[in-house]
Amino acid sequence: MREDHREAVDRVHATRLWQRHVEMAAIGAIPGNGVNRAAFSAEDIRARQLLVSWAEARRFGISMDAIGNIFVRRPGLDPDVPPVMSGSHMDTQPRGGRFDGIYGVLAAFEALEAIDEAGVKTRRSIELVAWSNEEGGRFAPCTMGSAVHTGARALEDIVGVTDNEGVVLKDALAITLAAIPQAKGREFNAPAAAYVEAHIEQGPLLEMQGKTVGVVTGIQGLRWFNIEVFGKTDHAGTTPLKLRKDAVRAAVDIIMALRELTSDPDDVLRFTVGRMLVTPNSPNSVASHVLFSVDIRHPDQATIQRLGEAVEPLARKAAGVCDVKVMPTLHDDPCVFDAQVVSAIERAAQTLGVSNLRLASGASHDANYMSRVCPAGMIFVPCENGVSHNEAENAKPEDLAAGARVLTATLLELANR
Ligand code: GLV
Ligand code: MN
Ligand code: MN
Repeated sequence: MREDHREAVDRVHATRLWQRHVEMAAIGAIPGNGVNRAAFSAEDIRARQLLVSWAEARRFGISMDAIGNIFVRRPGLDPDVPPVMSGSHMDTQPRGGRFDGIYGVLAAFEALEAIDEAGVKTRRSIELVAWSNEEGGRFAPCTMGSAVHTGARALEDIVGVTDNEGVVLKDALAITLAAIPQAKGREFNAPAAAYVEAHIEQGPLLEMQGKTVGVVTGIQGLRWFNIEVFGKTDHAGTTPLKLRKDAVRAAVDIIMALRELTSDPDDVLRFTVGRMLVTPNSPNSVASHVLFSVDIRHPDQATIQRLGEAVEPLARKAAGVCDVKVMPTLHDDPCVFDAQVVSAIERAAQTLGVSNLRLASGASHDANYMSRVCPAGMIFVPCENGVSHNEAENAKPEDLAAGARVLTATLLELANR
């Protein structure tokens, strides 16, 4: 490793990085040490403003695109070559933790600061990106900011999405965009030389094997659906069962059929119904309408394809007397990260003496969409007991710093290619 690169890596500051997590975790803090920072909420806006204030203090360039992705740039020597990018997301699950997403943003910022303090000149600019609405917990689907930025999804197609309270994404987005007046406008899909995302593992492998860094090889495939069941509301005490069109009963039958479809003795296949809206949602009225989400994941392309195609016919069959509408909302095939980026990350870890392990990601990430437009990879750090999407999510300051060092060394190598 070049001496100036080593100096930058040595400037990665574990306490500063930890302190920034503490500051961010205060925005949307919930009982149990968790964070609720929904995309395009007042809390999301405050987190964005805090990040931008840190970037301004460093005189880094700040820009934002029309879906609200924020870019923080440390210029390189050659303004005409595409930048190397790194980042993740600042939104959380409704009962989320202090690390999912925000770690990748803060690790990238730590890398930018360390490189800046060491005065290292890079050929390419290095750019942090904070993606909008990665979680999809408020406005489905997930990984929205990176999907729109990379052209996989059109902005016009998602602006009408509503949250559980009926707020339209278009309105929440407009408020968010107006709250960062310092940011220059940024076009979608400007070329990138490479993308590296740091993230907590959200699973138990690193901890179980006593390794500090995961060199991520790819992400499993994912299908999301919204299934709506239409019935008729009636009196719960007086209406005979055989005369009912009970939307909850039909929804349960559909879910049981999907459970059977996705049952896997090896526990590789993942099936989740995590969101359910019932109308009129009263104990003594038969439900007239149910909307529920379906999330199915598998690493194998043929398997995820087959399962995805089976959902609609199966739901129609199981719905009985009720009507059903099946809306696919996300279709991500398994992705394999770029071999050169993967080996650059592995080499960085080995050079720095950070114990590491190659592994695949069970969770979805913005790196999936970036891998379709440029060479991409990810760096994982352990989280306690593998717990994530939970207030109890936890990680060690020294592991977060080790991941940020590996990230810094990797970005420097890629930025000088
Ligand atoms: C992202 O949080 C995912 O659902 O994997
Ligand atoms: Mn995440
Ligand atoms: Mn998440």
